[in-house]
Amino acid sequence: MDSICVQGGIALQGKVSIQGSKNAALPILAATLLVGERSFIRNCPRITDVYAMVSLLKAMGCQVNWQEQGIWVDSSRIQKSVMQSEAVRGMRSSLCLLGAMVGRCGSVVMEHPGGCVIGRRPIDLHLCALGQMGVEFEEEGGLLSASADRLCGACICLPKPSVGATENVILAAVMAEGDTVIEGAAREPEIVALCDYLCACGAWIRGAGTSCIRIRGGRTLYGTDFTVPADRIVAGTYLFACVAAGGNIFLEHAPGPDMGAVLEVAGRMGAKLCTSRDGIYVQAPSGPVSPGHVMTAPYPGFPTDLQSAALVAASLGEGTTLMEETIFENRFRVVGELCKMGASIELLDPGRVLVRGVETLQGACVEARELRGGAALVAAGLAARGETVVRGCPYIYRGYENICRDFRELGARIISA
Ligand code: EPZ
Repeated sequence: MDSICVQGGIALQGKVSIQGSKNAALPILAATLLVGERSFIRNCPRITDVYAMVSLLKAMGCQVNWQEQGIWVDSSRIQKSVMQSEAVRGMRSSLCLLGAMVGRCGSVVMEHPGGCVIGRRPIDLHLCALGQMGVEFEEEGGLLSASADRLCGACICLPKPSVGATENVILAAVMAEGDTVIEGAAREPEIVALCDYLCACGAWIRGAGTSCIRIRGGRTLYGTDFTVPADRIVAGTYLFACVAAGGNIFLEHAPGPDMGAVLEVAGRMGAKLCTSRDGIYVQAPSGPVSPGHVMTAPYPGFPTDLQSAALVAASLGEGTTLMEETIFENRFRVVGELCKMGASIELLDPGRVLVRGVETLQGACVEARELRGGAALVAAGLAARGETVVRGCPYIYRGYENICRDFRELGARIISA
């Protein structure tokens, strides 16, 4: 199932239920290590990044089993472990196990999580912050060893609102002696979800969702039953696909209150949007309009993970759009593939592209090279005339449970092959 074939040119209609959030589920699964009891995590997305995380939890001795509504994780018996597996090698999201393992058992050895096509993905902020809490690191032969005789709370100031570094500090701080304050914390909804889970387990955390988070360490944690919120990036992907392909859709469970910047850009493109407690109703414009200037930024700014999907809609927008990527240094890899479909996109410099709207895109054979760019190519295929074949789809399955099923529910003619 390496490819997805799309017959484009069909406006989307209908309702689709939005899956649980990948970027909330991953740190929450890591956090189950801190509890030492059974937790039930509902609405956990069935995607390959979660499967990889689950295999790491099992490798460390956790009992894990899937049920229809979610996943049981029992971390009452874990052992120190050397995390060496394909899962760690190819997956950034295992990095949040660093804080959890050091918090739970004082040490961990893992393969150094490398960069990826969208950027170098350094971890200096993680190491510096955890170092302030008493964690010592050794890096040798591609392995990262972390250990702490005594994990102590600290006042951490993050120079950049790194999502992963914020998560790692929270996971370690919950188990540390004393209090921790994180200044300059990331404010993403996924941080809030992680803190909601930990507080439901008995942790004391205040300020989640703001740039100053306070954690009281050393409290006993208990297993809990927790529901992962819906994935705002999956919802936004489908929203921009509708703006590009046309039609009227309902994104059930989409977290409208967490998507303000996304809805603002889609509104500038001419979409009519109505958010409710149950989701977001999207009415595409008869022809998208250029949103002018879109710049990615840390939450609550426009999310970098939706930059590629917005690029697809802007490619069909009347007028020109300046798209600026400020988070990752190499996140315009999809531009070349979109140009194969007839998009007119000029790379001004590594962080900026100029998009000139075209009448239509043409179906083509294109290659996914990373998760969000791959999903954007599927969206482009829905809007294009003729057939589009997107290869490299395992990237897409890292974050989308079943993108073909979802778009079929919206009337698309799409199959995985
Ligand atoms: C998380 O990655 C998400 N991944 C990413 O989603 C998302 O794009 C990113 O946050 C930004 O919102 C998960 O949650 C699993 P960062 P993360 O640390 O934590 C620099 C997707 O498609 N930085 O907030 O790795 C870094 O280079 C993925 O679902 C350092 O310089 O991102 C980047 O420029 C892609 N040093 C910026 O900070 C560090 O130690 C933001 O990175 C850490 C980060």
